[in-house]
Amino acid sequence: MHNPQLNRNGALQHLLTIDGLPREILSDILDTAAPFTEVAEREVKKLPLLRGKSVFNLFFENSTRTRTTFEIAAKRLSADVINLNIGTSSASKGESLLDTVDNLCAMQADMFVVRHAVSGAPFLIAQHLAANGRDHIHVINAGDGRHAHPTQGLLDMYTIRHYKKDFTRLIVAIVGDVLHSRVARSQIGALTTLGVPEIRVIGPKTLIPADVDRLGVRVFHDMRAGLKDVDVVMMLRLQSERMQGALLPSPQEFFKYYGLTADKLCCARPDAIVMHPGPMNRGVEIDSAVADGQHAVILPQVTFGIAVRMAVMSMLAGT
Ligand code: CP
Repeated sequence: MHNPQLNRNGALQHLLTIDGLPREILSDILDTAAPFTEVAEREVKKLPLLRGKSVFNLFFENSTRTRTTFEIAAKRLSADVINLNIGTSSASKGESLLDTVDNLCAMQADMFVVRHAVSGAPFLIAQHLAANGRDHIHVINAGDGRHAHPTQGLLDMYTIRHYKKDFTRLIVAIVGDVLHSRVARSQIGALTTLGVPEIRVIGPKTLIPADVDRLGVRVFHDMRAGLKDVDVVMMLRLQSERMQGALLPSPQEFFKYYGLTADKLCCARPDAIVMHPGPMNRGVEIDSAVADGQHAVILPQVTFGIAVRMAVMSMLAGT
């Protein structure tokens, strides 16, 4: 079946989800990002790869890291960046998503970076562009509902490769609210495609999807058992905004059983790295001593995010 993210030549046309992308494309994105880390770290100021292009940031949900790093990435590639303020845009007056998109197309948009609370919203935009002969405009999913957050998944893979070099010998644990997490879905897809042999998910029964083992992961409800000998610990945020009803007794109770403390981290390998996509709830998902400790690579994740987003945008602009 044709993958709507790829063009007729098999190159990336949109980035909507990790699912269905071949290993070569994921590796190509990580390889392309590597030299951009110099730009992300400001050793090189700007590159002209998106000069003359207009990138529209459409964030219908709040964001600190993703929106800002997309803006930095686009500017370092010399694009014009337009941040739509959704609160004051016509979306708040009842304009439909696709009418908003049509109007921005009339302003000569080249790329849309879309975050939306509804799963599938970036797919809908990509389909609409194709149906209207606007194949030259690219869509990047910056997080849609519970579905996917592909650039977060990719920057996480970049971070793992940076510290661990080889995916094919790793044990990786994803901890916390897997049920509501688009980040976890993208991480599992990317880890699987890149050849990680053992992926574990750790959390309470109420926050782990019942059929998650179909994704090829091992499920643990005991955190110490789940962390035993892992190389990479990927913590998740509790997605309180997506929880309906009482799925947790209390944040304190969650921290007691599933919060990452130095004591629980001792179960992992001595050289394990600790990741978190942010925003981080200290004292709920992770203890400050671990978040700020020697195993944490949480802030490098953010810097790598600039390089990975530069890679994705430059690859799309090249198709
Ligand atoms: N990781 C992540 O998506 O963070 P933001 O919500 O701040 O963009």
